[in-house]
Amino acid sequence: MPVISFVSSKGGVGKTTGAVILAGELALAGKTVAMVDADPNEPLVAWSRIRDITSTVHVFADASVETIIDTIDDLRSRFDFVIIDLEGRAADRIGFAMTRSDLVLIPVQGSLLDANEAAKSVKLIRQMSRVTNRDIPYRVYFSRLAPAIRERTLRDIEDQFAENKIPTLSVSTVDRAAFRAMFSLGGTLHDLDHSDIGGLERARENAVAFAQSIISVLVGGEKQ
Ligand SMILES: Nc1ncnc2c1ncn2[C@@H]1O[C@H](COP(=O)(O)OP(=O)(O)OP(=O)(O)O)[C@@H](O)[C@H]1O
Ligand SMILES: [Mg+2]
Repeated sequence: MPVISFVSSKGGVGKTTGAVILAGELALAGKTVAMVDADPNEPLVAWSRIRDITSTVHVFADASVETIIDTIDDLRSRFDFVIIDLEGRAADRIGFAMTRSDLVLIPVQGSLLDANEAAKSVKLIRQMSRVTNRDIPYRVYFSRLAPAIRERTLRDIEDQFAENKIPTLSVSTVDRAAFRAMFSLGGTLHDLDHSDIGGLERARENAVAFAQSIISVLVGGEKQ
């Protein structure tokens, strides 16, 4: 079943957060979800230990270039969705995960520097597409958007992506306390309590739209 990888050469742009947001929405929709923690720092393993999430998502740590393809192939045969969280620097491991991906997602924050970093990931995807002789679908998306930077900078970056024929996801993730709280309190957005976190409802709306835009790409409903 579909394999979705979160990739970026730049650190701290929201890969792990995006992966957990998506996993939470898929699990809520009744899907079985495996997450592969392919970051040697094991952020997902740490997250999965805060709260018991075994009924929601299953986290598997594998940051080894020797085993990652076997791990992905095994999990894709057993789960409805496999979500891979990669760390930025290990190009060989990232490349291997890309070859097995039905969709690669590249978060960027609202700066031109991030856009340049995203272009590096896109280059690697294009190389891996040639290696495997198939088009590996991918989308760049804006991560952790603050309303204040929306206008000018974002339009410049969007133009830059369009000029380079780099497709973007139709939905961005917004900077919300609830998305940070998943990693301090554990669990997905749906395990959090309204009384603890402000803006939870808006974070949930954002998460639903984000997951839907990803599903649309997977089923081919969202044009490149
Ligand atoms: N949408 C968001 N709203 C609020 N905070 C966010 C959001 N996305 C990410 N963050 C915060 O930004 C920081 C970096 O996010 P995250 O760990 O997801 O990035 P990453 O790309 O996986 O980083 P790394 O390169 O270290 O793996 C974290 O503190 C996280 O809580
Ligand atoms: Mg991460």
